[in-house]
Amino acid sequence: MSISSFLTKKFLKSLFFPAHNRGAALPKKLVKLLNNPPGYWDLPELPEIGSPLSNSGLIAKCQREFSDKFGAKGCFFGVNGASGLIQSAVIAMANPGEYILMPRNVHISVIKICALQNIKPIFFDLEISTETGHYKPITKIWLENVFKKLNFDGNKIAGVILVSPSYHGYAGDLEHLIDCCHQKNLPVLVDEAHGSYFLFCQNLNLPKPALSSNADLVVNSLHKSLNGLTQTAVLWYKGNLINEGNLINSINLLQTTSPSSLLLSSCEESIRDWLDKKCLSKYQKRILEAKSIYKKLIQKNIPLIKTQDPLKIVVNTSKVGIDGFTADNFFYRNGLIAELPEMMTLTFCLGFGDQKDFLNLFENLWKKLLLNSKKSKSLEVLKSPFKLVQVPEIEIGIAWRSESRSIPFSQSLNKISGDIICPYPPGIPLLVPGEKIDIDRFNWINYQSLCNKDLVNFNIRVI
Ligand SMILES: Cc1ncc(COP(=O)(O)O)c(C=O)c1O
Repeated sequence: MSISSFLTKKFLKSLFFPAHNRGAALPKKLVKLLNNPPGYWDLPELPEIGSPLSNSGLIAKCQREFSDKFGAKGCFFGVNGASGLIQSAVIAMANPGEYILMPRNVHISVIKICALQNIKPIFFDLEISTETGHYKPITKIWLENVFKKLNFDGNKIAGVILVSPSYHGYAGDLEHLIDCCHQKNLPVLVDEAHGSYFLFCQNLNLPKPALSSNADLVVNSLHKSLNGLTQTAVLWYKGNLINEGNLINSINLLQTTSPSSLLLSSCEESIRDWLDKKCLSKYQKRILEAKSIYKKLIQKNIPLIKTQDPLKIVVNTSKVGIDGFTADNFFYRNGLIAELPEMMTLTFCLGFGDQKDFLNLFENLWKKLLLNSKKSKSLEVLKSPFKLVQVPEIEIGIAWRSESRSIPFSQSLNKISGDIICPYPPGIPLLVPGEKIDIDRFNWINYQSLCNKDLVNFNIRVI
């Protein structure tokens, strides 16, 4: 089968990213564009359009309009996912050889750019929930403890990265966290890939958006948490801690010379759609419906986990003795496609389409799953192998480029990794180049592999 044939395959229900639900929630103007003769709209960077870095043209005008609207100094559309813009933001914040403070649940794109640019991560651990295995959102007290533990020895910390909300929708009190960093004159990049729509719904008891919480740099994924096409993203900046020229140079360094006009138009329309009163009220209705789906499933005794993002339905399958991968497999075979299986949980992303039929479908399949699956009592969360504050034994960029050999992970105890180990989704590294595979990390990764096929019998490059 060719890729193109597969792309039109029907599933009973797709609750994965992109959040436009296979076109159902695409902005009307984008649908109109796509209804033109195939490819007609695939234009190069004509002067009237420009690019995200031009001073004139439709893109520049639109970016200016949006940044004025949300009180940002500026914004840039991106067509290489949130990954591409996060990487530009990281190199705008830190020079080679400088440190960045980041949480253990940072996205793999950050690790890759640190390796490429010899930027040194200082990781801080987060609390893990024993019920779900998920990282809990960071609190101000936790961050203050992290700051107390830091030993800079004259090395420059260039900034801080926060991830909020997480993949599942946990969000911290960003304003206080950012304030804590600003008191130390540290700029903050918030990876808000999963929370773009918070910016438009300040009345629905959702987390306060990163931009209104005074973040210096914010990256939103427009395909994960707004109704953009895959790869669309936007970066916002404000405040005085980030040098505008550096930021522009950094975006220039990593962006393609041929950004897709379709994706750029999707960046515009996915944001503009939410600025339209009628559309906004439709989306807000969807968010309220999502809250009601959650309530109804809880009333039916389905073990859901509450997060701050109503569009994520997170099922704690471990409560009924079933791991998230087995549950995912079962739902997939029955046509209900989820986004993120993990050892203890399975996460569905409702997206912005109409999901009224989800409730019955899910409930029926859940009952079947309970009847047909073998239950295991051994699902538990292992203690985190991380210290509160930790840097790799060898600099990440040096380790990445060192001479290495590939060996089975089972033989890697006490060796230094030259590799990133990172199941996707969720794209959170379990091990990065330069880190030692000590016994706690070794056991922890082995334990994850009990359920996750990505981690079975794999090889790793060690130095
Ligand atoms: C927290 C987080 N940040 C960034 C990204 C990267 O987003 P994209 O796939 O748009 O590059 C992801 C993707 O899974 C993510 O989960």
